Amino acid sequence: MTNKHDANRVTIFDTTLRDGEQSPGASMNLDEKLRISEILENLGVDVIEAGFPIASDGDFEAVHEVASLIKTAKVCALARATHVDIERAAEALKPARKKRIHTFISTSPLHMKYKLQMEASDVHEAVIDSVKFARNFTDDVEWSPEDGSRTEHDFLCQCVESAIKSGASTINIPDTVGYAIPEEFASLIEQLRNRVPNIDKAIISVHCHNDLGLAVANSLSAITAGARQVECTINGLGERAGNAALEEIVMALKTRSDTMPYYTKINTKEIIKASRLVSAVTGFAVQPNKAVVGANAFAHEAGIHQDGVLKNAETYEIMTPESVGLTTSTLVLGKHSGRHAFRNKLKDLGYELGDNSLQEAFKRFKTLADLKKEVFDEDIIALVDDEVRANDTIKLMSLEIKCGTEHRPPSASLTLEINGEEKSVNGTGDGPVDAAFKCIQELFPHDARLQLYQVHAVTEGTDAQAEVTVRLEEKGRMVNGAGADTDTMVASVRAYVNALNKLLLKRGKKTPEALSA
Ligand code: KIV
Ligand code: ZN
Repeated sequence: MTNKHDANRVTIFDTTLRDGEQSPGASMNLDEKLRISEILENLGVDVIEAGFPIASDGDFEAVHEVASLIKTAKVCALARATHVDIERAAEALKPARKKRIHTFISTSPLHMKYKLQMEASDVHEAVIDSVKFARNFTDDVEWSPEDGSRTEHDFLCQCVESAIKSGASTINIPDTVGYAIPEEFASLIEQLRNRVPNIDKAIISVHCHNDLGLAVANSLSAITAGARQVECTINGLGERAGNAALEEIVMALKTRSDTMPYYTKINTKEIIKASRLVSAVTGFAVQPNKAVVGANAFAHEAGIHQDGVLKNAETYEIMTPESVGLTTSTLVLGKHSGRHAFRNKLKDLGYELGDNSLQEAFKRFKTLADLKKEVFDEDIIALVDDEVRANDTIKLMSLEIKCGTEHRPPSASLTLEINGEEKSVNGTGDGPVDAAFKCIQELFPHDARLQLYQVHAVTEGTDAQAEVTVRLEEKGRMVNGAGADTDTMVASVRAYVNALNKLLLKRGKKTPEALSA
């Protein structure tokens, strides 16, 4: 399939919006998905897997809207091996300039027996039928044997050969449960290349999960063995321990091209921007020591290291911070900055807001600039992310908290706008956060339970904005909400309200258990 010129080119298939979003708590609304898809396109990913249209009307709409928006990348939709799934995927992809249908079925003995309750011969028939059916809608069909790494090799080869014969041009081998180890996974790819007679008619892809922390290592091994597409997500977001991290695969290939002479068309300078957006939207903080995008990835604390880096950065840096888009925090704007400068700054940071959102964001920026001596890029990002999140069913209108040694028990007065109607309440609690959250419960009764409450400072200093993450759980569905403000209590209520809005979106969505039937 690959011509000689492109023999070492690796296709980057991003599944942040599909597998990433399946991660408990990581649901995104339509606006957020559209912003991420734009950033993925700027990053230069080849394929954007935008969702699983049969899962819910929201997923369908997201794939449809991403397909309308994206200009150069291919947009892909996931479907099980059934005609209804495939038709729904095809319908959602209609507006796409370039489209792909990705259909899958489990092939491992364990999955066939317990999950599908199907005989291998019936699964094999379903492979042929689903790929042929998908080809009615597009020439670009990808087929995946779910739990591929635990599938018997003879059966895997048989299914791969049939999928290609039926019209699949990409064969994706998932390590669904993150069980493989690099040598073994590479040898599986080699076997497919040696044993499947028509394998040269398809690109081999891999899709690795990170349960043993080996997703990136397995993906790189597979590339060395001949795979030329990798499926990955920003920040390694994904089911359980996540998927292979896009930024790690791309930077490993770039940094070690001496031993892995393969290349992607990713613009690595956009990596940090993409990482921050995904983290802000999902409320999944990036661990400080995370490779490539963690806050400490380029920080040198030990004096001996600092000394070395000052003399020659290569002593301790194998890639430059600039190569992933990390620039030192700059003092961006002050309280005298005008709307024009603010809009330009947003553009530099990769944000284009509509007039109303811009107006609101500018108002909040002015308030922030009054409160805070220095406003940094990170402050603007937190503020705008918060603004974009804010166009929801439930909105925070005002909050007043009384607490401290003279005010026991702490009390809160809260006004929310719910479906366009303002509602107010007063309440008390064990602490100020408890008082505020009880008020939310009173104004918008719900059964969700608070699973996580986390605060971190956006920048240094006591005048820093607080960024709060709230995780709620309702009937097995988990969502993360995020909110930012110089006032930790305001940020907390924003985060809770954001999580509730996400929960409302999720209520119409089928659970993974319902889908796998
Ligand atoms: O992990 C997996 O097996 C998947 C498939 C749908 C490709 O996500
Ligand atoms: Zn997966």
